[in-house]
Amino acid sequence: MRVTAAAGDPLATATDLLVLTSWEEEPLPSPLADLIEPGDWSGKAKQTLLIYPRDALPARRVLLIGLGRRSSPDLDQVREVAAIAAQRARELKVERCAFALPGVPDHPAEAVAAAIAEGSLLGSYRFLEYKTDLKPEDRHEVDELTLLTPGDAEEEAARGVARGDAVARGVNLARDLANLPPNDLTPARLAERAQELATAFGLPITVLGPTEMREQGFGGILAVGRGSANEPRFIVIDYGAQYADALTVCLVGKGMTFDSGGISIKPAENMDAMKMDMSGAAAVLGALHAIAELQLPLRVVALIGAAENMPDGSAYRPGDILKTLSGKTIEVLNTDAEGRIVLADALTYAQRYHPSAIIDLATLTGAISVALGPHAIGLFANDDALAQRLLRAGEAAGERAWQLPLWQPYREMVKSDIADVRNSAGRQAGAITAAAFLQSFVGDYPWAHLDIAGTAWTDSKSKAYQPKGATGVGVRLLVQALRDWTQK
Ligand code: BES
Ligand code: MN
Ligand code: ZN
Repeated sequence: MRVTAAAGDPLATATDLLVLTSWEEEPLPSPLADLIEPGDWSGKAKQTLLIYPRDALPARRVLLIGLGRRSSPDLDQVREVAAIAAQRARELKVERCAFALPGVPDHPAEAVAAAIAEGSLLGSYRFLEYKTDLKPEDRHEVDELTLLTPGDAEEEAARGVARGDAVARGVNLARDLANLPPNDLTPARLAERAQELATAFGLPITVLGPTEMREQGFGGILAVGRGSANEPRFIVIDYGAQYADALTVCLVGKGMTFDSGGISIKPAENMDAMKMDMSGAAAVLGALHAIAELQLPLRVVALIGAAENMPDGSAYRPGDILKTLSGKTIEVLNTDAEGRIVLADALTYAQRYHPSAIIDLATLTGAISVALGPHAIGLFANDDALAQRLLRAGEAAGERAWQLPLWQPYREMVKSDIADVRNSAGRQAGAITAAAFLQSFVGDYPWAHLDIAGTAWTDSKSKAYQPKGATGVGVRLLVQALRDWTQK
């Protein structure tokens, strides 16, 4: 679906489907009010009413959608409403539709336009690559959504649409990657997808295989990947090197294309879900896509440790002591705590860029999902200013994060008796000790860790713009944070 903005009067626009939003208790414009039974419409949030205006309006159909109370305007509500409209348009097999830009108190037209573009594109997302039994009409997509604006808001709205479009395509890329099955998305395939992204934007990319990693001492990633026939990769994409003097941020993603647990194998139930254990890597690539599309003026180095955690005769074991890229040693107590080992090497590598911030994203612990459920990303940081940036960005972008502590006693918990650190400290404070482990590999660089294990996947359609499966979480937060950073 193409999304564009154009100045125009909704009630004078000819289109297959005109989407009109309305606040609760707001009177409808007269040609519409005359067409319906007053009792059929209240305008409460997400209420819909489909009207066939015949000769009363140039539009063939009008979809009324309620925005809820004007006194508590919320851009996430706008995203949901846009998603509902886009889904309804698709069900109606519409080719073109028009969406009248609503005025939302406290939010500039640009932000509202961005939310509508985002919501409609996120809500239109489907993963159909493996469906062979669909009829052509089941694959119908709406061709174009035009955001109709008042004359003086057209430019602002167009900027918002461009931003929402870039962000949504980044999220949908991340969703695609995380939805792919692990037999088709191996570490090598993930590197190919990264290569395609780099090529599309003309960005320098480095992909290290096992030989190069052995030469350079990536003892963490290599150990985790050793039990799989699908060899590990280390991926680096460098965006905006010309802005290095202004701002450099490293984005680090956990790219476990499948996590069986290894020798400390997981139970069979729901093990299939561990194909999404590369959602951190997916979010980094999705964010990079959006950042490149928007040409944000900063350097972003994307670093991905990609591996498959499997048990076989050459797999790493509990009891092993690994020497990482940093030179620090890790005592392996549980091969299922593999993400932090992979990230240890990637976080070490990130320091070469002397970044202003290192931000890692990882489906790291079941414990974060116990703590926060599916409603918030777990945030950890060694730098308060960075933490605040990310918390604010998450709030603004509709992807909330919540900070947990990294006090010294937690860091004590990951010390090992015979190596420098141990990769598991047991059940207590599991998300925090995982983060404390990571902290020992970031040196003095400002660093934040986003644990997305509770938010990267959904089994129920929780919001209209969030279908079942991979959520692409993290992309919206990252783009918002980096955009804000380059503007202040
Ligand atoms: N990939 C998992 C974490 C996870 C769990 C992600 C559920 C998404 C949904 C991670 O590698 C893992 O297995 N963590 C262990 C750590 C433990 C062995 C210390 C966990 O959380 O149980
Ligand atoms: Mn694991
Ligand atoms: Zn994992």
